Amino acid sequence: MFDLSGKVAIVTGASRGLGREDALTLARLGADVVISDILLEDDPDLATTAEGANSVLAQVAAAQGWVHANATAEEIRRLGRRSTAIKMDVTDRDRVREVFRQVAEQFGKIDILINNAATLDHVAQIPNQDYRLWDRDIAVNLTGAFNCTKEVWPYLVQNHWGRIVYMSSVAGTMGGFGQASYSATKAGLIGLARTAALEGGRHGITANAIVPGIILSEAARTAAETNPIYERFRNRTVFKRFGEPSEIAATVAFLCSEEAGYITGAAIEVAGGMSLLTA
Ligand SMILES: NC(=O)c1ccc[n+]([C@@H]2O[C@H](COP(=O)([O-])OP(=O)(O)OC[C@H]3O[C@@H](n4cnc5c(N)ncnc54)[C@H](O)[C@@H]3O)[C@@H](O)[C@H]2O)c1
Repeated sequence: MFDLSGKVAIVTGASRGLGREDALTLARLGADVVISDILLEDDPDLATTAEGANSVLAQVAAAQGWVHANATAEEIRRLGRRSTAIKMDVTDRDRVREVFRQVAEQFGKIDILINNAATLDHVAQIPNQDYRLWDRDIAVNLTGAFNCTKEVWPYLVQNHWGRIVYMSSVAGTMGGFGQASYSATKAGLIGLARTAALEGGRHGITANAIVPGIILSEAARTAAETNPIYERFRNRTVFKRFGEPSEIAATVAFLCSEEAGYITGAAIEVAGGMSLLTA
């Protein structure tokens, strides 16, 4: 089951965290995988790109050595699959179009898109929400996923087969205190996934959203260690623990499989029961 041999996948924001784990898991199941990210560890412009991204987290990631785009591509090639790491900012439509064209040329086709790239590095209640950060989050998290969906579409239609997965969040389904922009984008992705599901059906394309709780990527682990509110989040789960990146990646892999071909337009919570009413 879940044999992805012969499939070509693109994962956005795959140089670290959940995207990197998704990419490795898809490759272990047989897929060729393109690692795309705004940050690449051996990019001579890494520091300036991180600075220009207007994201504290991008700068932390670059400084802490969290960026593993090329190393992940290399790890995938060692599994015997094809892989490459490509610098791509999901907000840059011309670049997205060009990258997808290059991938289709080099790999022969595109079958799977994992819309994972996102920014989450500020918390502020609405009166203090910085307009620039609101605009940035909409541009990266929501419009970026739309750009990739629109540009991948012709390739999936050509295959009469496709899988698109959107990384939403419980902040999108439950709201997030101090997370107006993040929460709004993550709710928006569910609407986008459902629309892509409706329009993709006739072309054999499924589109689904995953709704994670707190999952221990480098970024989330750091936040959990420094922000006491995370203890409350942990206690809201029925297991009293955070999730592991492999638990998201397994769900991504399932949704990309042949076996999940009748699942579309779904928003699947992988959150340890965080949204359940507790006694
Ligand atoms: N970790 C969690 O607890 C959690 C919970 C709910 C949802 N999510 C979602 O899962 C996804 C991954 O989360 P993570 O914890 O691994 O986050 P992360 O911040 O570690 O990873 C995000 C990746 O996206 C890349 N990126 C940022 N802006 C980009 C751009 N403009 N173009 C291309 N790439 C860009 C970053 O460089 C990074 O590699 C995100 O969509 C996040 O919102 C995560």
